[in-house]
Amino acid sequence: MRKSVIALLFAAVLSAQSIEYSAGRKTWLLKTASNAYALGVNQRGELQNLYWGGPLWRFDDIHAAQAGPEWSSFDPSQSQTNEEFLGWGGTRYLEPSVKITRANGVRDLVLHYVSHKIDGNQLDIVMKDINDDIFVTLNYLVYPAEGMIRKQAKLENRSGQPLTVESLQSGVWYLPHGEGYRLSYLTGRWAAETQLTREDIHTGEKVIESRKGHTSHNANPWFAIDQDGAANEESGRVWFGALGWSGNWRITVEQTPYSQVRVTGGWNTFDFSYTVKPGESLETPPFYGGYSNHGFGEASRMLHRFERTQILPGGGKARLRPVLYNSWEATEFAVDEPGQKALAEKAAKLGVELFVMDDGWFGKRNTDHAGLGDWTVNPQKFPRGLTPLIEAVRSLGMQFGLWVEPEMVNPDSDLYRAHPDWAMHFPGRPRSELRTQLVLNMARDDVKEHIFSVLDKLASDYPIKYFKWDMNRPFAEPGWDGAPDQKELWVKYVRNTWEIFDRLRAKHPGLEIESCSGGGGRVDLGILKRVDEVWTSDNTEAFDRLRIQEGFSQAYAPKIMSAWVTDVPNMNGRSTPLKFRFLVAMQGALGIGSNLNKFSEADVQLATQMVAYYKKIRGTVQEGKLYRLVSPRIGDVTANQYVSEDGAQSVLFAFLHSQQYRKPAPAIRLAGLDPKAVYRIQVLGQNDWRTFSGAYLMNEGVTVRLAGDYDSTSVLIEKAAN
Ligand code: GLA
Repeated sequence: MRKSVIALLFAAVLSAQSIEYSAGRKTWLLKTASNAYALGVNQRGELQNLYWGGPLWRFDDIHAAQAGPEWSSFDPSQSQTNEEFLGWGGTRYLEPSVKITRANGVRDLVLHYVSHKIDGNQLDIVMKDINDDIFVTLNYLVYPAEGMIRKQAKLENRSGQPLTVESLQSGVWYLPHGEGYRLSYLTGRWAAETQLTREDIHTGEKVIESRKGHTSHNANPWFAIDQDGAANEESGRVWFGALGWSGNWRITVEQTPYSQVRVTGGWNTFDFSYTVKPGESLETPPFYGGYSNHGFGEASRMLHRFERTQILPGGGKARLRPVLYNSWEATEFAVDEPGQKALAEKAAKLGVELFVMDDGWFGKRNTDHAGLGDWTVNPQKFPRGLTPLIEAVRSLGMQFGLWVEPEMVNPDSDLYRAHPDWAMHFPGRPRSELRTQLVLNMARDDVKEHIFSVLDKLASDYPIKYFKWDMNRPFAEPGWDGAPDQKELWVKYVRNTWEIFDRLRAKHPGLEIESCSGGGGRVDLGILKRVDEVWTSDNTEAFDRLRIQEGFSQAYAPKIMSAWVTDVPNMNGRSTPLKFRFLVAMQGALGIGSNLNKFSEADVQLATQMVAYYKKIRGTVQEGKLYRLVSPRIGDVTANQYVSEDGAQSVLFAFLHSQQYRKPAPAIRLAGLDPKAVYRIQVLGQNDWRTFSGAYLMNEGVTVRLAGDYDSTSVLIEKAAN
């Protein structure tokens, strides 16, 4: 009964108009199944944010916009007016949404409402400078079912003189007026990405950003905000957002002295400059936002669903991620035909579906000192080319994938010797190498065309299903020899690189791509439009992974979270059992990176069973709802549960990582089940099934008998027929 009422309400929201406009009050209401957003035009003609939060059913609640008071000459009205998109001009001192300099040096920009257009789920609001023909169009796209809103801005220069844009942000989000907010965000470093960080928001600005040219390991363009520390995984109000940009980005969380929290996001203003000539325009990347009434867990599930259905290539129709084998940790650069074939045979027996050959197959690539840029098969390692290996892989029933790092060049390469000017540099200045490589200036169209043709040729010459596209260093000395507007490199690099992904996919339908940047250095809602999965971290040590994956899952879907089982001792010297490693990796897109030549009979047997188990539950893991039941940051145990969209299957993963002698593991209370339904549950490795009501499993929980460090288990939960 309850379910059908919810379904009806949901259907009603979806069938109703997602954007309403009141001409009398000059207000707009944007509605989704789980939240609402409102804005209006105030008496001065400024566009003003009016609401962002839980669903509203009464448009009349939204009053006409009213500019804030002027308290003193030091506290002007504009400081207390929640302007939706703020030109830097007049008496505005908050973080601007757009800042320009005209050719004649005039920098004042005051934007007022001109017109709007509603087209289905899209709203365009046009604003214009009070004097000049400088226009900004704000575009809103509402995703009613997913509970998300996309913001984007376009600046058009119809004035007679060129403009230098010093900042053009994607948008601003306003929290309900007040204080006591708390910010959640993701920080990290190489091999320790996506660490969940929480801190109170105080007056002033908190900036999370990348200045490195790629999205970066150090911070990720996602935020979540709750108030009074009141939200937890399953309850409380959470406002959240994420940027779709794979280069220099910035999210500025600002609490004004007037108790207003506002979040501005888009291109990083650091070293930013873009010339917009008369007749030209500049469009920002998207900034997505959502609101959840049910804590951080629901906020993540909303993002996961949104990514699967609206962002990732193929949307809801994309296939489940196959079980992958990758040779990197087994062989590093020592790849050759017999070695790869031997690994492929062993991988196929375990149930692997996609075999990926990593670094080392091209040019003079025997170490990381040479070869990048020379994307031709190394004749010593593959005297007969790649075809015999690919045929062998395919005849074993697997698809073939290949590692590439197209944006890079080693100085010791034929490409660099032929085109030293293609590497990013400032004339007459040192070229800083990292991992003995330089970054190609992808902003240049000749470089872009060359890289496209290299990858196109590989995808045309061989039946390659999958590229693992790597990027193993950040930018340095981002000079662009000969270009009048050198700083545009930051933006044009990303756009050209994205274009290659798009053209490759269009020309080779079915080709899949993994985004890797030394692990999780390029994960954002921009690259996710062009790739099928991402390499989460170069750190494959299973215990460390629990935290990395907890952070990753705040913002990104388990389906794209590539996770490998690798050999021990790993990275930090820790040795966890093979079962623990498998169960950790099975919480995303399972891969294996072990040296299979070293597997014992018992390892092979366990791995085969684990891969078979994964195939039984992967639909639920990859496309279900994730409940983070017990955090690895808090105690000795980590537990995560996944529930399929239709509620028929669920799976629990539980890990013990630091047990005090004989301290029993706690009962794990499940979530996301139907309290009225009956479920049968089976512990991995046991034959018997037991039945319980959803109510019992969610109130009392399941006792996981974990004993000793790095013990782990999984429980399969199936809804019994009514
Ligand atoms: C990066 C990737 C690894 C591997 C190496 C190869 O570090 O993250 O997975 O592909 O490059 O050089």
